[in-house]
Amino acid sequence: MCGIVGYVGDKQAVGVLIEGLRRLEYRGYDSAGIAVPDGAEGLCVVKRQGKLADLEAAPELAGLVGTTGIGHTRWATHGVPSERNSHPHLDAAGRVAVVHNGIIENFHDLRAELESEGIEFRSDTDSEVIAQLIGLELAGVPGADLAEAVSSVCRKLEGAFAIAVVASDSPGRIVGARRHAPLVTGVTETGTILASDIPALISETREIIVVEDDELVDLRAGSLVVSDIEGRERVPDTVHVDWDVAAAERSGFEDFMLKEIHEQPRVIGDTLRGRIDTVTGSLRLDELRTSDDELRSANKVFVVACGTSFHAGLVAKYAIEHWVRVPVEIDIASEFRYRDPVLDARTLVIGVSQSGETADTIAACRYASQLGAKVVAVTNVVGSSLAREADAVVYTHAGPEIGVAATKTFTCQIAALLVLSLYLGQTRGSLYPSEVRGVLEQMRRLPEQVAEVLDDVDPIRAEAGRWARVHDAFYLGRGPAYSTALEGALKMKEISYLHAEAYPSGELKHGPLALIVEGVPVISVVTAGHVQKKTISNVAEVAARGGRIVLVANAGTDMGGLLPDTVFEVPETHELLAPIVDSVVLQLLAYHVAKQRGCDVDRPRNLAKTVTVE
Ligand code: G6P
Repeated sequence: MCGIVGYVGDKQAVGVLIEGLRRLEYRGYDSAGIAVPDGAEGLCVVKRQGKLADLEAAPELAGLVGTTGIGHTRWATHGVPSERNSHPHLDAAGRVAVVHNGIIENFHDLRAELESEGIEFRSDTDSEVIAQLIGLELAGVPGADLAEAVSSVCRKLEGAFAIAVVASDSPGRIVGARRHAPLVTGVTETGTILASDIPALISETREIIVVEDDELVDLRAGSLVVSDIEGRERVPDTVHVDWDVAAAERSGFEDFMLKEIHEQPRVIGDTLRGRIDTVTGSLRLDELRTSDDELRSANKVFVVACGTSFHAGLVAKYAIEHWVRVPVEIDIASEFRYRDPVLDARTLVIGVSQSGETADTIAACRYASQLGAKVVAVTNVVGSSLAREADAVVYTHAGPEIGVAATKTFTCQIAALLVLSLYLGQTRGSLYPSEVRGVLEQMRRLPEQVAEVLDDVDPIRAEAGRWARVHDAFYLGRGPAYSTALEGALKMKEISYLHAEAYPSGELKHGPLALIVEGVPVISVVTAGHVQKKTISNVAEVAARGGRIVLVANAGTDMGGLLPDTVFEVPETHELLAPIVDSVVLQLLAYHVAKQRGCDVDRPRNLAKTVTVE
């Protein structure tokens, strides 16, 4: 998830671009750059690794007087944060500059094709293929049109993109395009502007045009044309936006947490995107610095993580044991590193960390490496310490998460861990290709199923309204649903400050049942799975003690005579995939309970987003 902006008009572009990028910094902040076509000099590009402030301080900016330009603030997805990987990217001739937000799924194939034609790439990004392809379309074709070149290249791209393109041969012009990634545009008092997101526009205009999938926008100082990929023009409607800048950064949501909860359909899709090799049909990992033979020879897997990441890791334990038939241990990183775990060169350690900077998780993985184990990192931050040190990496592509309580990064971690588990099953031959395809088929439906949960918030809000006098709550689940219960209770604790505990349903009668008295809410995850009936009978034990029965269940579930107080209905999926769908209900429940208690959900007391000390 990155931020892009483009301006063409009467003002000097640099000022407008920097102002726009400042409003988009929450979308990415590992590097930033701009390109301004300048008649005599060709394309002037200034890029800096680091925060936008580093770009702003660049002395080269002072000389850029051009009134057309594009800019980018990056959250790395392919290639570590570095100047060479920052946008804008140029074609080989240095005549085309592109900024891109999204993920190009078929970039490996496109890049291989271009390299076989002798084109040398200057970055590790998926985005550079776009610049190179547009450059080729324009090269040596007198009078070639930039919009036609962009449209032709868009047809070759698979995946998600919002792009803005300038070319030294097309002064005073920007061409933008999108597919499955946001792009908005508008006419200002001094010119035309485009951006990946509304906040970048509102200091220039409040009349916004939303570009649709597979549409192009052609911006010049005095005109803005929207057309489809075939070049058919559309008369665009404008939408008036009266959000202030802070609300715009939250896309109009009350808090970042709620925004991030709602981003899940898209980012889960992004996490799954590009994992399947379109030629061989097999799965692909991001950075594998270990051989398939090493993965094949592993006779034991350890999962190490902290907090929410530990809960996601628990799903991997169930998935790997079931699909790969290798023993899996899971441990809290701060315990693992000090407990003398037994591991050697045939052990595979999976370190799960949203930030990739959690001190205990890094130390646990380092320790495992010293003992000869292979380490695979599952992280959201390209180039983070964990990603750099691991033998292989699977990125979660959730984009930056601002709310302290993890939401979208949790569901994306599970998605990435399931992909990794399937990859292990595929590589080791414990799964038939048809089985892998069957699971992937169900995974493809996850974004839409999560969107269904997000659309059905009224029952959740109503349930939250009954929690005014609640002090304690219990969460139950078995198998992968235990992970959902743990994460649901953690969300409730973190943001509402209520006492919330999760148990494997079968443990209930070994102690916690003593705490169940009239009216205590017990939230049980009873979605489809081989232990569903067993959980339902545990819930009956709670009902017999007067507990308030709140269920997360699929429509039409046989409750065996149980009369729940509330049922949150969710779409049905494979039981190993269900935590992704079911957790969203519990995120929303925690959110609405916290809001009713007047809590600051984005900045819960005493908690930090990233814990870099042990
Ligand atoms: C902190 C955050 C949690 C997170 C945990 C692990 O406690 O508040 O949301 O789950 O650290 O962080 P990591 O970045 O390693 O996933």
